[in-house]
Amino acid sequence: MTEKNAKLLVDGKEYDLPIMNGTLGNPVIDVSAVQQAGYWTYDPGFKVTAPVESAITFIDGGKGQLLHRGYPIDQLADNAEYLEVCYALLYGDLPNKAQKDEFYAKVQAHTAVHDQLRKFFEGFRRDAHPMAIMIGVVGALSAFYHNDLDLSDEEHREVTSIRLIAKMPTIAAMCYKYTRGEPFMYPRNSFSYAENFLYMMFATPADPEYKVNPVLVKAMDKIFTLHADHEQNASTSTVRLAGSTGANPYACISAGIGALWGPSHGGANEAVLNMLDEIGTVENVAEFMEKVKRREVKLMGFGHRVYKNFDPRAKVMKETCDEVLDALGIDDPQLELAMELERIALEDPYFVERNLYPNVDFYSGIILKAIGIPTSMFTVMFALARTSGWISHWLEMHSSPFKIGRPRQMYTGETERTFVKLEDR
Ligand code: ACO
Repeated sequence: MTEKNAKLLVDGKEYDLPIMNGTLGNPVIDVSAVQQAGYWTYDPGFKVTAPVESAITFIDGGKGQLLHRGYPIDQLADNAEYLEVCYALLYGDLPNKAQKDEFYAKVQAHTAVHDQLRKFFEGFRRDAHPMAIMIGVVGALSAFYHNDLDLSDEEHREVTSIRLIAKMPTIAAMCYKYTRGEPFMYPRNSFSYAENFLYMMFATPADPEYKVNPVLVKAMDKIFTLHADHEQNASTSTVRLAGSTGANPYACISAGIGALWGPSHGGANEAVLNMLDEIGTVENVAEFMEKVKRREVKLMGFGHRVYKNFDPRAKVMKETCDEVLDALGIDDPQLELAMELERIALEDPYFVERNLYPNVDFYSGIILKAIGIPTSMFTVMFALARTSGWISHWLEMHSSPFKIGRPRQMYTGETERTFVKLEDR
């Protein structure tokens, strides 16, 4: 919707820049006319740039609000199953009973991976980081689904999304089993999504009676929901950018996994636990905070590009953390340590002035650890859950005409020079 214009005055000439309003959030200024004036816009870190229109997820960082298809994240986390949230992300609204049954059946039909895919694991060292294996193996899916994939066909795009959501727990669990030297467990389609994942992670052929603790199933499902989507974050933007070339979607998701791995993004959950290990005890917190303020280290799990008040996911995550530790009777000293860090940070002017609050990753590591998931798998959990968001954005992009993503630059290198032959240099 264009209602009014902004004006650009450059070199004495005026240009109209249409202002567009979405349904929520800041209006956006269409800056296409900047090019007519012979300029480009400069916005390192895409701090104010909206390269897409999207109807999937809305964040109001000031209010600490996160909506998926209009539903607040806390309501979804408390009342919906992760697969229902996936359905909403993919199709626009939560499913009714018949839609839910049909969707769950479709996902269950795709949980297994081609037997040939097992061979890819053997190419990795046993001590390889599971995220490195994920990038390789998910990218390798493109070798299994390429020749018959017609991206202009809606049904092909849909089955791709379902395949990815269905296979991610299987591949994630295979990464874990491989690094432990244990046999892979086949998916059990009578189990729920989260239960099946925990089964494939922790069951072994030696213990056919293995039962997954229902408290952990509920917590795992909630963790998946809390990580499902987060609008145009770094990894989702990577998936969209790769997808804008018409690339194979499995390769695009693999690119997203690579972007997620960094400690400024999804890698933060692993970095939080490493940081808590390094601090050791509550007595060392004050000294660590001084190091943060001297900018020698960052307080991992704190701060967010968009949330400048609180991260609503962190609130639900903290409650879930308490529930899981209570149910398992775990008295984790790292929780006490995390709470002390949070207490100091929320009072200290350094953090208050910079609007730094705990993000989703601050407490997720403590729950994942209680569930028995090793630190190196934390970001894999995030990738598994975020796949639904990535592929929903990819689908949204492919559902209407789009342009290849191709940013500009402000060139600061040498101006044109004359080539000098090697013997004359
Ligand atoms: N610890 C200490 N200081 C911090 C932190 C932190 N975690 N985060 C930001 N700051 C400071 C910066 O040094 C900067 O200070 P200055 O203005 O004095 O220079 C100020 O706060 C603003 O920070 P920016 O880096 O400009 O904020 P930006 O929006 O670019 O970065 C980010 C956001 C990357 C998340 C950052 O806060 C960070 O690195 N946090 C730690 C890693 C983390 O937890 N990442 C997970 C994010 S959530 C997710 O991806 C799921």
